[in-house]
Amino acid sequence: MNPDSTARRLESALAEVHEKIRSAKERGSVADYIPELARIDPDQFGISVCLADGSHLGVGHYRTRFSAQSVSKVFTLAIALGRYGDDLWARVGREPSTLDFNSIQELEIRRGHPPNPFVNSGAIVTTDIVLGQSTPAETIGEILQFVRTAASDNTILIDPAVAASETESGHRNWAIAHCLAEFGNLDHPCEMTLGTYFHQCAISISCEQLARFGRFLAGIDPNRGIVSERTIRRINALMFTCGHYNGSGEFAFRIGLPAKSGVGGGILAIVPGIASIAVWSPGLDRLGNSLLGTQALEALSDRMQWSVFISRLADSRL
Ligand code: DON
Repeated sequence: MNPDSTARRLESALAEVHEKIRSAKERGSVADYIPELARIDPDQFGISVCLADGSHLGVGHYRTRFSAQSVSKVFTLAIALGRYGDDLWARVGREPSTLDFNSIQELEIRRGHPPNPFVNSGAIVTTDIVLGQSTPAETIGEILQFVRTAASDNTILIDPAVAASETESGHRNWAIAHCLAEFGNLDHPCEMTLGTYFHQCAISISCEQLARFGRFLAGIDPNRGIVSERTIRRINALMFTCGHYNGSGEFAFRIGLPAKSGVGGGILAIVPGIASIAVWSPGLDRLGNSLLGTQALEALSDRMQWSVFISRLADSRL
């Protein structure tokens, strides 16, 4: 593979994607169930890509920080898998969900065992596991430090206004936490686990920082060993099958890459061995995934021929 040519092709592909997104008529609607997110200007778009050779490109609002929201579920999953390995699966499943990301019904049907770590119920359990014997403040600090280390950036922060906004308005998550407790699948009081969960969701991060974070998942990070290869394989598998909730099949069909979305409008997508991509546009589709972010990834993966279903060798022929 000639890395220079990949970077050059990527540069023009990103410019094309940006142009395409600029002219999009339908832009989706921002998440209004978290009041602090309802105020975000939907007319923003950024995308950033880190390549294996260390080059890092970005267009649009790629340096603007946004709320990580469910993308943060990857952060806690990585910590939980690293620390507890397969013990995690006693408390949360690894199958795609069929209902919405914040469904109480699906949790109820599964008698308190969430389908996977990326729906809200599964992420709340994962956070409960990561809490262990620590305080919420220590755990929030640990999650933030993990993100900063992986992204090589100590300026990544938590937005306390977003955490407070969700603590006050997040009745559905309170109901989910109480349902988990009722089924005996929560080790800590609801306010402790949810307090930690809301803060992890409120991590404020730019596309540039998030793409850097994702390098270890693509196997292209300069400081290898932040988590084991086995954990990396498993996180990617879960991102692929569950990262877009009940829209994961459609996303896999259109884009063909492991990816995780958040209601802040961000998506982290991984091209194994080749690239880590972060895209952001706050307008969401009806399943709560970034509308234009998905379109941008579709255009970029088409143009670059990036897909887990295309051999890596294809890249060297282009
Ligand atoms: O718990 C919630 O509802 C939000 N903090 C996160 C949900 C989310 O990002 C769903 N993703 N697309």
